[in-house]
Amino acid sequence: MGKLAITGGKPLRRKPFSAWPAYTGRELAALKQVLASRNWGGYPFPNAKAGTFAQKFARFHGAKYCIALANGTVAIEVALKAIGIKPGDEVIVPAYTWEGSVGPILLLNAVPVFVDIDPDTYCLDHRLIEKALTPKTRAILPVHLAMRFADMDEIMRIAADRKIAVIEDCAHAHGGRWRNKGAGASGDAGCFSFQSSKLMTAGEGGAFVTSNLEYYERAQSYVNCGRASITDNYRHRLIGFNYRITEFQAAILEAQLERLPQQAKTRRANMNHFEKRLARIPGLGFLKRDKRNTRIAAYQYVFKYQPEHFGGIPRAAFLGALEMEGVPCDGLFYEPVYRSALFPVDAGEFPALSWGRTEPLDLKSLYHCPVSERAAYHESVWLPHHIFLGTRKDTDDIADAVLKVCENMDELRGLKHPAIDRKDMSRAERPRVEKRQW
Ligand SMILES: Cc1ncc(COP(=O)(O)O)c(C=O)c1O
Repeated sequence: MGKLAITGGKPLRRKPFSAWPAYTGRELAALKQVLASRNWGGYPFPNAKAGTFAQKFARFHGAKYCIALANGTVAIEVALKAIGIKPGDEVIVPAYTWEGSVGPILLLNAVPVFVDIDPDTYCLDHRLIEKALTPKTRAILPVHLAMRFADMDEIMRIAADRKIAVIEDCAHAHGGRWRNKGAGASGDAGCFSFQSSKLMTAGEGGAFVTSNLEYYERAQSYVNCGRASITDNYRHRLIGFNYRITEFQAAILEAQLERLPQQAKTRRANMNHFEKRLARIPGLGFLKRDKRNTRIAAYQYVFKYQPEHFGGIPRAAFLGALEMEGVPCDGLFYEPVYRSALFPVDAGEFPALSWGRTEPLDLKSLYHCPVSERAAYHESVWLPHHIFLGTRKDTDDIADAVLKVCENMDELRGLKHPAIDRKDMSRAERPRVEKRQW
């Protein structure tokens, strides 16, 4: 029997952390009100709650317009459509992101071009964008993740030089700011998700923000089955779909938005404390902070595990041990999208991959992005945001658990354990073993 819980010792913590999603009587009352109104759906568009929530969400991020819609994946599709992406256009995306940042590009028969991430931020590395540009590039789609922003100054400069658009994937960045501009408001459009794990949630849901009236109108039409937009200045006529949000979701999201600033303050204070406690621990690394990121969106807390320092003991062993100490954690949160089992691209389904070529582009073998690969398979440790919503003592427990595992790493050498196996399991396989899937 060792000291670590995974080798038979006493777990550092048995008490669960703050529950997520969080709600109060505010959500219950809002839901009851919608129920009693018998006005439940997204039509007429935008419906009452969806309209007021969208206005508040736009204001919160400093954008002129917002559409609340079905989820974050379709928000990206809507944004691509709004800026006028056409079949065969190329869109630059970071390799290290959720598959939903990339799928909509293919769905519109455009072509994703993967670019590696910056090891200091885990976000799109602007220094690699120029090399990936071609005459077909029409947009750059940075993803703000790991509590960091992609360098929006450089990305906007490149986009302005090339006269191409920028869509910010802000699924992790609710309330975050770059040079005091809200997430999604520096680029031409921003996309948010309100899926269960996110900083604000209605179970599912999403938002598209922009300050460009033409994009806003095209997006409205696309989300609302092709119907004319409210102002209809541009008279766009296109085939649209029903991507509307329900009044129930919008009502919950209004309550969640009111609560976000206070929650964000708590999370940020606890995460700062956590980072201070671990800052000098050999074998752990931290992403860099950037002064231009004037407000951090405290979504999952991400740090680096350096296997070389621990004699090659793999990250899965560290994570399995940490989880057995009572701290939920993840490593394979994302894979480089081109390698993911959730990205089985069949060129036959996406004709643009073959246009002008003797052989179709094979997105799965074309790329090797070393920083993304290292982050995904060896280095990144993701701690869910809700565990930082508690007290200073809760945060100390998280730090103490990490320290305990680091101090007893020798117990993990060569260890086999189901908790370790689970930490090596990809997102594609997990539903088979996890009861709760975010
Ligand atoms: C970075 C990123 N982009 C896009 C999405 C898609 O959002 P949704 O799950 O609401 O469709 C997610 C959601 O997990 C995400 O994390």
